Amino acid sequence: MHKRTFIQAAVAATMLSTGGLALAQDNVFKIGLILPMTGQQASTGRQIEAAARLYMAQNGDTVAGKKVQLILKDDGSVPANTRRLAQELAVNDKVNVLAGMGITPSALAVAPIATQSKTPLVVMAAATSSITEASPFIVRTSFTLPQASVGLADWAPKNGIKTVVTLVSDYGPGLDAEKYFKDRFLFNGGKVVESLRVPLMSPDFAPFLQKVRDLKPDALFVFVPSGAGAAVMKQFGERGMDKAGIKLIGTGDVTDDDQLNDMGDVALGVVTSHHYSTFHPSPANKKFVAEFQKANKNLRPNFMAVGGYDGMRVIYEALKKTGGKGGGEALLGAMKGQIFESPRGPIFIDAQTRDVVQNIYLRKVEKKDGQLWNVEFDVIKDVKDPGKTK
Ligand code: PHB
Repeated sequence: MHKRTFIQAAVAATMLSTGGLALAQDNVFKIGLILPMTGQQASTGRQIEAAARLYMAQNGDTVAGKKVQLILKDDGSVPANTRRLAQELAVNDKVNVLAGMGITPSALAVAPIATQSKTPLVVMAAATSSITEASPFIVRTSFTLPQASVGLADWAPKNGIKTVVTLVSDYGPGLDAEKYFKDRFLFNGGKVVESLRVPLMSPDFAPFLQKVRDLKPDALFVFVPSGAGAAVMKQFGERGMDKAGIKLIGTGDVTDDDQLNDMGDVALGVVTSHHYSTFHPSPANKKFVAEFQKANKNLRPNFMAVGGYDGMRVIYEALKKTGGKGGGEALLGAMKGQIFESPRGPIFIDAQTRDVVQNIYLRKVEKKDGQLWNVEFDVIKDVKDPGKTK
């Protein structure tokens, strides 16, 4: 009798604790964040991780009664790794959301997993237009290259630039930048003398820049992914291209705030178009920059950080709205159509395309208080991705 009671008590205790475990699991909301924390794109990982942690520190880690857990994985920007990690996170960890995606090939590799597992995938960095069409579960908080490129192609011919050579990284976002800049620039009466493409991995810009020097266009239009801009700028300066009268223009990836301040005076006067500058003069951005820098040894947040920060907001708000009920589809539904003020300015997640609609700013690199900044001088409001076919 005594023994039976003991066994019964033991069984009851086990049931309680496993029941407790199941309950604890139910009360956790998992975000699987896959980023390049190592390799050529490591600055993107560092920026987005810092921004995601800042968002959580500012907004708490309990949302709709659930404990938000961030599971960070490093894919080193190798798409096969991104895919394997996403599979593990979806199947083993049963994450509620997948997020991150430092480069386009990573996002495309994960898209089928998002679809099959019905897990929303919040793309915080990758920016090829077609990504959102690769899965109905993708929502994007970064930008698209067509979105960033066309404004510059309108600005350039009105500002003395009639001939251009384009130089882009030879993959999705670079091809988008090349096409959308070129088409609009030609439409506006400009001439593209030559279109050059450099490899994504370990590019050597020297021979390409030499060619540009020989062609002597009014301007060189550049797209390289975040992290590669400083190398372009250095070689542009070393070859005396600015002194030869060739202007450097591009999407804001080339004057990336993560590196800009170390680029030196060769960057002064470079005009770019983009969705975010650390120097954006809104109160919301000033607060974001101050708190980001305080938490990260004065690191300047760049456009990648803002994509990560806003991505976390989209996830948090969707969780609040659904109370965590209804699974991936309900969560996805609550992400669509969100509209709010980001550090970059007002943004909108278009419910039809699941892509971000936002202002694109024209900016010029200027020195203020001894530091280099992308200073905005014009804005094109509420730009939808021009690359969408439907
Ligand atoms: C991309 O791979 O989609 C990508 C990466 C870095 C950028 C822009 C686009 O700065």
